[in-house]
Amino acid sequence: MTMDANEYVKIRPATKDDLDDIIAINIECLPEHYPYSFWLEHLEKWSDVFYVAEVNGRIVGYLLSRIEEGATFCKSGKGRVGHIVSVAVKEEYRGRGLATAMLSAVIYVLQNVYNVEEIHLEVRISNTKAIRLYEKLGFIRMAQVRSYYLDGEDSYIMVKNLAPTPCRAKSVEYL
Ligand SMILES: CC(C)(COP(=O)(O)OP(=O)(O)OC[C@H]1O[C@@H](n2cnc3c(N)ncnc32)[C@H](O)[C@@H]1OP(=O)(O)O)[C@@H](O)C(=O)NCCC(=O)NCCS
Repeated sequence: MTMDANEYVKIRPATKDDLDDIIAINIECLPEHYPYSFWLEHLEKWSDVFYVAEVNGRIVGYLLSRIEEGATFCKSGKGRVGHIVSVAVKEEYRGRGLATAMLSAVIYVLQNVYNVEEIHLEVRISNTKAIRLYEKLGFIRMAQVRSYYLDGEDSYIMVKNLAPTPCRAKSVEYL
């Protein structure tokens, strides 16, 4: 879909007033749903890495992420990791770069405000569109998790290394 010259696009952190629209987009676009308390908790703890895309004042996409202390792939041991938990754009607004814009904003904050060493996410192995989007932004497929999703589909864990040292892990391994 192409953009109308009169359209007004804004990528900004989410607020509590956005939550009903965000939850509706999540239900419309993804099989993985969460209770209201889950969205609210993320907003309260990590509002600066929870973004929405707005077109003409209407929420058309969101990106939810958080910060965790956990195992790292690129070096041995634990570290501070950014986790992209959920991202979706309403179907009629896809292919215009909105997910790229939200991801770029969140990656910037994770790297420069939270100093995370790596960013992790899970994606269905059949979701080629999303995998291409993440690869474009520097994520690599690091592991394949069998039956990660409730319907039995495997996930890839994709990782973007932000540490100054190169990533020690190179290939997809089965977990
Ligand atoms: C995945 C999703 C968030 C992408 O949103 P989007 O705003 O359309 O993404 P963008 O316009 O920023 O596209 C970014 C990249 O994704 C890939 N992509 C987007 N649409 C594509 C398509 N129809 N076919 C193949 N690749 C595509 C391309 O690499 C594209 O980069 P390019 O435009 O430079 O070629 C959106 O398709 C969506 O909401 N899907 C359903 C929910 C979902 O699967 N979320 C991800 C869960 S892990």
